[in-house]
Amino acid sequence: MSKRSEAPKAPGLKLFFKPPNLLYNQMDPDQIRAVDLARSGKSFFLTGAGGTGKSYVIRNIVESLRRDGKDTALTAMTGCAALLLGKGAKTLHSWSGIGLGRDTAETLILKLRKSYKSKKNWLSVDTLIIDEVSMMTPDLLDKLEIIARGIRRNTKTFGGLQIILVGDLYQLPPVNKGERDEQHFVFEAETWRKSIQDSVILHTVHRQSDPVFLKILAEARAGRLTQESIAILETRRNSEWKKLEIKPTLLFTRRADVEQINMTQLQKCKGPDVVFKAKTVQTPTVFNHNLSTPESVQWSVEKMDKNGSYVPELVLRVGAQVMLLTNMDVEHGLVNGSRGVIEKFCEGPEPYPMVKFRNGEVIIITPTTWASEDVAGLERQQIPLRLAYALTIHKAQGATLDCALIDVGDNTFEYGQAYVALSRVKSLDGLYIWDLTANAFMVHPKVKAFLDTIDLLDTTQPTPDPQAQASELTISDQTYLMSTICMDLTATASEDPS
Ligand SMILES: Nc1ncnc2c1ncn2[C@@H]1O[C@H](COP(=O)(O)OP(=O)(O)OP(=O)(O)O)[C@@H](O)[C@H]1O
Ligand SMILES: [Mg+2]
Repeated sequence: MSKRSEAPKAPGLKLFFKPPNLLYNQMDPDQIRAVDLARSGKSFFLTGAGGTGKSYVIRNIVESLRRDGKDTALTAMTGCAALLLGKGAKTLHSWSGIGLGRDTAETLILKLRKSYKSKKNWLSVDTLIIDEVSMMTPDLLDKLEIIARGIRRNTKTFGGLQIILVGDLYQLPPVNKGERDEQHFVFEAETWRKSIQDSVILHTVHRQSDPVFLKILAEARAGRLTQESIAILETRRNSEWKKLEIKPTLLFTRRADVEQINMTQLQKCKGPDVVFKAKTVQTPTVFNHNLSTPESVQWSVEKMDKNGSYVPELVLRVGAQVMLLTNMDVEHGLVNGSRGVIEKFCEGPEPYPMVKFRNGEVIIITPTTWASEDVAGLERQQIPLRLAYALTIHKAQGATLDCALIDVGDNTFEYGQAYVALSRVKSLDGLYIWDLTANAFMVHPKVKAFLDTIDLLDTTQPTPDPQAQASELTISDQTYLMSTICMDLTATASEDPS
């Protein structure tokens, strides 16, 4: 018989036997608490700063639950994040079969009932894990909850599914087309209130180990960079990166800057430009007959070209670094965000690009369509690729990078954006600053208010031993900072009479 887990005992939690492998030995105590809570069958929120191993631990959760005989769906909010998770993870949209998710829950239930694959997904799993949940809208969570009940024909919350929501709310919020301050967050969902009674906070950062950098990161996350930290970051605003053999990943806030950098890099590839222009396709439907005018079509095409994920005029060359923009073959890891290089172009009337992906496969990329939200039957058709020398910070959320050049200056427009950029690299040595302003590091007031109470939800946290805490303070700045932040949060929460 295997021995009991060394995990701290948590009130109200069943004790589990350690699985007969090294899984538990490779995790820190907070991570072990998360696995144990997952194995108890409860739904919960798993959170912690960037690099505390949230994504790492959910891979172990999948493994543990599988051994317990449970079927788990591992999903993430973006293709890039799903790709980083591995273990067959899919985007939430693709796994759930909801497409863009714009239809009502009732319409989606009707559609999904006709799709064998999506129905099977919903019916076969016991647990649904969603990573990078800070990017999820409350509407989407509520919609999925209704869908789960409908498809599973089970009136319990989420149709009886265990849900594990994973993410750091100090990172990027859901994409918001309106005013930044009118942003809605996933924790405002009715479903969150009904199903998330527990949380686990991971406290140990594994991505970085330098106490100086960890202190800067903790300040940046809380939106309180000190003058001392700014001075240290300013020393990284140099041009040494230009001399590096392996160039840093360039992380910029705005797509326009990213595109300009990409074009400059493209010019360095030999060979002629091969240009692909997006085409408009309009299929008459009962809904648009006689309703769309040339002006409305023109307006809609312009809007799609401006906001869509495709590049309206895509210029490529042999040797260009590219990124896939659709989930082409999720099973084989060819998803939104997959990186590759242009091997050559097809001969014949359509010179479609042949891309060699990191998994070694060479695939011919043919056009994909993007549907208009405004004019029924109107679509834009384009090769689903973009240049990948520089990335937007949105695409980098979840990644661990060796070396990055980041723009966290006045162009920063989203709460959490600057912190995400800064927290991607493992050390200050690998960090280069293009532009920096302290104002870029801000926390949305709603997030702050919510997180002020979150530690109360960490029900599995063992009662702190004040003596142990005092001695920990001397161990490293990291532990010191994390415990001061936690003490801050407890103080604020207990002052709140409600
Ligand atoms: N217990 C551990 N032991 C060793 N390495 C770990 C451990 N936990 C996490 N790591 C490593 O730390 C790095 C960051 O982990 P991970 O990407 O899972 O963090 P995260 O909390 O998901 O970050 P983000 O919020 O940026 O998505 C990874 O390289 C991971 O392998
Ligand atoms: Mg992660």
